[in-house]
Amino acid sequence: MSNVHISTHPLVAHKLSLLRNQNTEPKKFRELVRELGGLLGYEATLNLAVRPVQTHTPLGVSNGFELEEKIGLVPILRAGLGMVEGVWDLMPSAEVWHIGIYRDEKTLKPVEYYNKLPVEPTVSVCLILDPMLATGGSAVATIDILKRWGVKKIKFVGLIGAPEGIERIQREHPDVPIYLAAVDERLNDHAYIIPGLGDAGDRQFGTA
Ligand code: PRP
Ligand code: URA
Repeated sequence: MSNVHISTHPLVAHKLSLLRNQNTEPKKFRELVRELGGLLGYEATLNLAVRPVQTHTPLGVSNGFELEEKIGLVPILRAGLGMVEGVWDLMPSAEVWHIGIYRDEKTLKPVEYYNKLPVEPTVSVCLILDPMLATGGSAVATIDILKRWGVKKIKFVGLIGAPEGIERIQREHPDVPIYLAAVDERLNDHAYIIPGLGDAGDRQFGTA
C-alpha cells in the first residue's frame, strides 16, 4: 500500500487498544481520540515545508525555521471533531474548517449537510480528520470538496481504516496520503469496521 502510513508508535498502539475496549466510557473515549489525534497529526506533518527564520534569544541570534504553509484542519462531523484539539495544540495557527457529512444507513452513501467554506481557499495544506475510514465514501466526498475549493495538498488522518476505504481513496485520489493508527480486517454487512471500535460518533457523544 503506497502512500499509506500506519503508525508503529507504542503509545499509539496502547491508546488504540484502550479506545477499542467496549467498556471505555465516553469521557475516556474522547480523551483518547484527542490524544491519538495529536500523535497521528504529529506523524502526518513530518514533511511540512519550513522556511528559514532568525530568532533573537536573550544571548544571541539563532538561525531556525518556521512553518511556510497555511494549514487547515478539516474535521468531518461528527466524529472528526474529537481529533481537532489534539492536532490544534501542535499547530495553533491552523484554521479549522468543518465539513458535515453523514453516511446514509441504507445506501451507505455520504450525505453532505454542512459546508461553510468561503469561495477562495484560505489555506494551502489540509489535514482531514476522521477516526473511521470504512467504505471511504465520506473521506472521498471531503477530498472532492477540498479539491474543488482549490487546495492541492491534502492528507487524510484517521485512527482505524478498512482495506475497502483505503483502496477507494487510493483509486480516486492517489495523491492523498493516508495516516492511520491501524488497518483492520474488513467491513461487516452494515459497513462497520471489524473489529473496529463500534460507532465513533456515538461513543464520543454518548448517543449509542
Ligand atoms: C462515520 C465516521 C466517518 C464515516 C466513515 O461517520 O466518522 O465519517 O462514518 O464511513 P465511510 O468511510 O463508509 O463513509 P457517521 O456517518 O457515522 O456520522 P457521525 O460521525 O455523525 O456519527
Ligand atoms: N463509522 C463508524 O463510526 N464506525 C465504523 O465501524 C464504520 C463507520
